[in-house]
Amino acid sequence: MRILEVEGLSAWYTQGRTRQPVLQDVTFCLDRGEVLGLVGESGSGKSTLARSILGLHRDWEGRVRHYTPRPQMIFQDPYRSLNPAHTLLWTLTEPLRAAGVPAAQRRERAMALLDRVGLAPELARRYPQELSGGQRQRVAIAAAVIARPGLVVADEPVSALDVTVQRQILELLMDLKREYGFSCLFISHDLGVIYQICDRVLVMDGGRIVEENDTDALFAAPKHPFTKKLLEAAE
Ligand SMILES: Nc1ncnc2c1ncn2[C@@H]1O[C@H](COP(=O)(O)OP(=O)(O)O)[C@@H](O)[C@H]1O
Ligand SMILES: [Mg+2]
Repeated sequence: MRILEVEGLSAWYTQGRTRQPVLQDVTFCLDRGEVLGLVGESGSGKSTLARSILGLHRDWEGRVRHYTPRPQMIFQDPYRSLNPAHTLLWTLTEPLRAAGVPAAQRRERAMALLDRVGLAPELARRYPQELSGGQRQRVAIAAAVIARPGLVVADEPVSALDVTVQRQILELLMDLKREYGFSCLFISHDLGVIYQICDRVLVMDGGRIVEENDTDALFAAPKHPFTKKLLEAAE
């Protein structure tokens, strides 16, 4: 079953009087249960693609079709994605409210998921700025999945974390994926991370998809010069 279809997507940023192209003719799809990696160097347009798909960036043309409601996003910097004015309990119950879950069930579901992502119940009354980076990313992941979205777009969700914490957060994300059954567009500039968790990979260079393949096949036999260069640089 299809979760997302993107066809001929181009996007621009305007600075002063120039409208600069950032994405050019991007086409791909994502099926149910898949973890699709999007890898490319910094500035290649990965975040712009994520933001365009979720309607956070508006200057684009092409076609984006969502087959599930309320796709969610996890950002690299949970400082910015978590609202500093609200407690964790609010952060976790708000998506349930937005999804129409009755008030009586919200608190219980939020507390259960808080526990599931490895955070103590006392933290429910705390604010994001009182947490460590890893704890904040656990909350950001919990908030993204709590209303059971069909699609989670994770934009460099572990890039700001220590390697040990990275591994824990990736494991958590993949465990929750299995339990909740969402599909994931997973963005990273780090091929090691992509290799660990993705079923299939899109390689982006200069705003275009230059290669697409199953993860094993891509790593075994990269075709595009840019992908070869990326793999060599990662060794
Ligand atoms: N808000 C913005 N205004 C103008 N240009 C931007 C903006 N955000 C990103 N860009 C430019 O768009 C290009 C792609 O950026 P981005 O999508 O953030 O790439 P990535 O996520 O792969 O690092 C870069 O050249 C970047 O400088
Ligand atoms: Mg980015």
